[in-house]
Amino acid sequence: MKAEGTPEVAPHALRKRLVALARQARRRAHAPYSRFKVGAALLTRDGEVVTGCNIENASYGLTLCAERVAVFKAVSEGVKRFSAIAVVADSKRPTAPCGPCRQILWEFCGDIVVHVADLRGHVTSLRLSDLLPLPFDRRNL
Ligand code: THU
Repeated sequence: MKAEGTPEVAPHALRKRLVALARQARRRAHAPYSRFKVGAALLTRDGEVVTGCNIENASYGLTLCAERVAVFKAVSEGVKRFSAIAVVADSKRPTAPCGPCRQILWEFCGDIVVHVADLRGHVTSLRLSDLLPLPFDRRNL
């Protein structure tokens, strides 16, 4: 029997599932210019997962990062409570969300856990507040 307070799915299994879904989403990346494919999987507080991939444009500046695609997909569907995000890229060093994505993630997700993974299975887990200390947010306004 499940002990009180024990999560339904062990955190390690959840992280594995989230990374696997981000890896799948990465395959759908539209990145003909940089050829740098990124996938993201955003975990909602209800246990649902919303994925995203980077979508580039010939004008370059209109490119959308995988993380923002996932956040905007979720928010546009009325989902606003999140607990973690996994980001997968094929890189020798961990690919953490870029500056603008950190700001967007902070706005909609708060201090979530960020799992940064590569294709070899290395995963680094941090909190968003470690990636974006002293954030600018509604408390400043
Ligand atoms: N990119 C992401 O999708 N997420 C990140 O965290 C870093 C960068 C994308 C944007 C662009 O399509 C490509 O990676 C190269 O910068």
